[in-house]
Amino acid sequence: MSETVRLIIEGKEYELPVIIGSEGEKAFDITALRRKTGYITYDPGFGNTGSCASAITFMDGEKGILRYRGIPIEDLAENATFIETAFLLINGHLPSLSELNQTRVLLNDSSMLHESMQVFFQNFPQASHPMGILSAMIMALRSFYPDMGTEEDIHTHFLYLISKVRTMAAMSYRMSRGEKVVYPRHDLSYCANFLNMMFDSPVHPYIVDEDLVKAMNVFLILHADHEQNCSTAAVRLVGSSRAPLYASIAAGVSALWGPLHGGANQAVIEMLEKIHKDGATIDEVIRRAKDRNDPFRLMGFGHRIYKTYDPRAKIIKKMCDKVLGKLKIEDPLLDIAKRLEEVALTDAYFIDHNLYPNVDFYSGIVLRAMRIPTNMFTVMFAIGRLPGWIAQWKESMEDPSRRISRPRQIYTGLTESAWVPMDQR
Ligand code: ACO
Repeated sequence: MSETVRLIIEGKEYELPVIIGSEGEKAFDITALRRKTGYITYDPGFGNTGSCASAITFMDGEKGILRYRGIPIEDLAENATFIETAFLLINGHLPSLSELNQTRVLLNDSSMLHESMQVFFQNFPQASHPMGILSAMIMALRSFYPDMGTEEDIHTHFLYLISKVRTMAAMSYRMSRGEKVVYPRHDLSYCANFLNMMFDSPVHPYIVDEDLVKAMNVFLILHADHEQNCSTAAVRLVGSSRAPLYASIAAGVSALWGPLHGGANQAVIEMLEKIHKDGATIDEVIRRAKDRNDPFRLMGFGHRIYKTYDPRAKIIKKMCDKVLGKLKIEDPLLDIAKRLEEVALTDAYFIDHNLYPNVDFYSGIVLRAMRIPTNMFTVMFAIGRLPGWIAQWKESMEDPSRRISRPRQIYTGLTESAWVPMDQR
């Protein structure tokens, strides 16, 4: 017999079906709750609400587990490329050699942007944040590639996006510096191509460094999906109205921008720079982070799901040491980060609140070492998260039980009130 839970409301008992996931995760199904009882649930921030069933990513926040399509993040970071990981997320299985080759060809074939898109880039004010530009340009892409066509064409659109977003990111950087755009090259891998588009110049031709290419692959893999986070939920929500793929992805970029989500990688570096510049002591910083009357938070610490060390943070921390060692960089910000982590991990407040470093705590230091400018950090996160958003959008479109997302509310405003004529207000 299938499991149920019993709910007693105003003395009347209701039986609700239980849904159990493949890793033993449990939920009770409240889809008929309002119709049967007149009640809704109240869950600001959706901390206890399952908005969908998904077969893409599994996380266990208590044990620090993260798997894409069943494969541990540690194995993917060690062995896979970002493109293999993207294929895995979107298609549900690792690519065969011929599938991978075909994907590479399609990525190369779609890496250029329509020349007239350059005009858009040129007309953004100089101080525009690259995340705003990226979101707007993804939306604009839809006008250049409007027809989704057959199912095969939809797969081509997925690869268009993965390829073109990388080109757009590099292009917006070059243009913001008043530099000539570097076109993508067919002989380079996805990450090497990006680094070349960012840094190649006639005076200093870019020489591909395989260790940095590996570091970028790992960075992107670690960010590729994270189940129903703020930006992914935004992608699914916008897609639920049957808005186009491009509009849904642009919504994901916008949600990612905020400092409590993807924008944290930029915020961490800005925080570390400020500590360095002001000469603040670690104890002072920790004291401020714990003070409820002070809005300051230790950026790069805490997570809605992880109540232990973020498994991605462990991998990126190791990568950070490797990249800095290889490039012989001594970064005072890394020393501050390490000292902050040491103190925070032994402080009662951080222990009691289960606050551990998240992926953003060290990722900014790796990106800095790779010469990626700080205001591009969240764009790097978006390039990484793109396959996850696409996979989640695709899964939601294929779900036979899909409905438009439409939460309810508890109204707390005035009850019916009389209209007041102007001369009596
Ligand atoms: N520094 C100090 N205190 C913190 C921090 C922090 N970074 N994060 C949470 N807390 C405290 C809160 O003050 C609160 O304390 P209280 O219960 O005594 O009032 C408690 O921990 C719970 O915090 P919430 O904000 O309710 O936790 P929530 O799950 O809603 O937020 C979040 C998670 C947004 C990640 C939060 O930890 C935070 O703001 N961290 C800093 C920003 C950051 O690093 N974001 C990146 C997240 S990972 C990602 O998106 C890739």
